[in-house]
Amino acid sequence: MSASVQHSPAGVRAAFTRRFGRPPRFAAAAPGRVNLIGEHTDYNDGYVLPMAIDREVVVVADRATGPDTTFWAVDLDESVTVDLAGPLSPGRHRFANYLLGVAAGFAREHAVPALDVAVAGTVPMGAGLASSAAVEVAFATLLGDLTGARLDPVGVAKLCQRGEHEFAGTPCGIMDMLVATLARPGEALLIDCRSLRAVPVPLPSSRSLAVLVADTTQRHDLTDGAYADRRRLCAEAAAGLGVASLRDAETGMLAGSNLGDPARAAARHVICENQRVLLMAAALVTQDMEAVGELMFDSHASLRDLLEVSTPRLDALVEIAQGLRGDGGVIGARMTGGGFGGCAVILCRTDAVDRVTAQLEAGYTRRFGTGPVCFAVVPSGPAYTFTP
Ligand code: GLA
Repeated sequence: MSASVQHSPAGVRAAFTRRFGRPPRFAAAAPGRVNLIGEHTDYNDGYVLPMAIDREVVVVADRATGPDTTFWAVDLDESVTVDLAGPLSPGRHRFANYLLGVAAGFAREHAVPALDVAVAGTVPMGAGLASSAAVEVAFATLLGDLTGARLDPVGVAKLCQRGEHEFAGTPCGIMDMLVATLARPGEALLIDCRSLRAVPVPLPSSRSLAVLVADTTQRHDLTDGAYADRRRLCAEAAAGLGVASLRDAETGMLAGSNLGDPARAAARHVICENQRVLLMAAALVTQDMEAVGELMFDSHASLRDLLEVSTPRLDALVEIAQGLRGDGGVIGARMTGGGFGGCAVILCRTDAVDRVTAQLEAGYTRRFGTGPVCFAVVPSGPAYTFTP
């Protein structure tokens, strides 16, 4: 998906009514996320520390009048019509594959009726803010409501992850779906991606701490192979070290191993990043913001130098932020999400948001000719249904 969607729930409802000639009867929404730390650790059974953001994907629907289901991406103005009763397979419309994957997962356990469905939202797509997971979780939440199926949040997350693997072709981890189903307002979640247990980590009040997102507007595509390559490298490193996953590895194992350089570097990133997640959760609890900042900058350097998933644009945003540490108001910054483009996350003092934003925009524009898109986000709640 390549365009950004900008529709409120009321806007999606009105669009549905115009298109299908009647108002929708079911509605659900799910949030995007920023990951504060713990990158490329989820598919290594490791730790992550994301928070849901106040940008969401909204799905509205009604039972269809005929046998076919229509999926309509309002902002892309793309529609796909399918018979959900037949065998489902991925098609050429990327947005529909996210929905088909969820429908296929649901259909394994429950009868899914033919539907008219409209999707829109405010999570920028391909920006590393988990717009795909938001689409999937919103649709799964709507299907749960419509069919009366009782699904627990972890079950929804697993169903959506499987759908993404099988239909969208991204071998993603489970972080994005779990945060969309389990998030809590005002808090980040420390998720153990092996046990799938999540512990809330309260964030300092928004009166003192702001979470800024700076979007490079460079779009990534996690289905293009670079993400899968990193995943393969990590699996290769785990096998070479004789552990079930890199979660079980320690830096001491690296020296004597006969891993190639890229696999050794990937392993070092994952081992140290897991430690950083635990340290950062503890530092947030004690409000040791100096340590929080240090860990975020270290995480970025590791993603840049060891796993090589950052880009010059992300590096520039983090460098500019680094120059504003301390009295400039910045606490820490790093790229967020899978990388290869997308966004940086910057923690800063709330009273410095305007100044930090202006400096990020000026410094980035000087180097790249266009500005980043900066916006503040607040830690938000999980997916929900509502009366459209
Ligand atoms: C993408 C994936 C996640 C995770 C991150 C990197 O966002 O969807 O599962 O692997 O990249 O941390």
